[in-house]
Amino acid sequence: MPTISNKGRHMPASPIRKLVPYAEDAKKRGIHVIHLNIGQPDIKTPKVALDAVRNHNIEVLAYSMTEGSEEYREKIAGYYAQKDIHVTAKEIIVTTGGSEALSFAMGSIMDADDEIIIPEPFYANYNGFATAAGVKVVPIASSIEANFALPPISDFEKLIGPKTKAILICNPGNPTGYLYSKEEIQQLAALVKKHDLFLIADEVYREFTYDNKQHYSILQEEGLEANAIVVDSVSKRYSMCGARIGCLLSKNKDVILTAMKFAQARLSPPTFAQIASEAALETPQSYFDDVIEEYVARRDVLITELKKLPGVKVAVPQGAFYCVVELPIEDADDFAQWLLEKFEIDHSTVMVAPAAGFYATPGLGKNQIRIAYVLEKNQLVKAVHILGKALKQYNSNS
Ligand SMILES: Cc1ncc(COP(=O)(O)O)c(C=O)c1O
Repeated sequence: MPTISNKGRHMPASPIRKLVPYAEDAKKRGIHVIHLNIGQPDIKTPKVALDAVRNHNIEVLAYSMTEGSEEYREKIAGYYAQKDIHVTAKEIIVTTGGSEALSFAMGSIMDADDEIIIPEPFYANYNGFATAAGVKVVPIASSIEANFALPPISDFEKLIGPKTKAILICNPGNPTGYLYSKEEIQQLAALVKKHDLFLIADEVYREFTYDNKQHYSILQEEGLEANAIVVDSVSKRYSMCGARIGCLLSKNKDVILTAMKFAQARLSPPTFAQIASEAALETPQSYFDDVIEEYVARRDVLITELKKLPGVKVAVPQGAFYCVVELPIEDADDFAQWLLEKFEIDHSTVMVAPAAGFYATPGLGKNQIRIAYVLEKNQLVKAVHILGKALKQYNSNS
């Protein structure tokens, strides 16, 4: 009997998707499931992006350049310049989503058994990319009480050893919604320089910052050129997750040369999606202003409603469109499944992502869930109402 790999056995299932079969069953029973579990925005993709594909009369859908079309990369460099991030087209590799940029980054700088320090809770798929690369994730806990701010630098230092190659942050954070300040980035910059580590920043939510807070990229930090690798994506920025376009940015030539070899192995990023993504760069600022206004309104409604529920703790997000919520229960996995299998109000229930899968430390986050506020305000109000009633019933049953 042929056997699968140990790596395959250890590959984690996505905590965001693993409850899908229960949701499907609920839907078959006629239940309306409100999806708070997945970061698929309901915002419309900019028309310029879709029109660019509609109006293109390609006759041969050919491969593009491995690093992405030159024209597109030149324009991306222009986009970054507007954000005070100064990179050339040669410092950009267009990838198949931010996901591929993450795996190129890990593959380019880390060998099997090397260690990467990541503040937890973190985007759950980092576990998957690390497992695929044979790399060990060393988590460092951030807390809901501190709104998931950067843990003290002294805590990072305690974890740095001979196998440590990199620190990975997500800014603004999924699932935390935390936006690292310039000072926090500068502390990390000093740390990685001191210990000759890479600093990978996943900045796919760069546009989504609230309350007049500014995003500060690691590539804005002078002197970090050798250490900094940025992962980016069009998925959330333009609500075009299905395009599958992202990029990896670095001013470190060795990183780019190495990542290029990984990129050559998969030939090229998707051609049509690059056309859409290039056109998306023409999206006017007013689009983002409207989207951000909408997310702020949703966040405010969600947080206000959640705070009314007894025993519920929530970190107020300053960016992205997620928040981590602590519930007065012991096991959010069980609760989330129960919501789909056993609970309904007027034929509706909610689907949430149990937060334990966003932690690498066993036992952490067991009483937490992640909520994505990618639905309209009235749906969010309804969802929290259902959650409140469900908590009461769940706790009275157990
Ligand atoms: C923090 C973060 N990084 C990367 C990704 C990957 O995005 P994509 O591959 O769609 O660009 C996601 C998607 O949800 C994300 O939330």
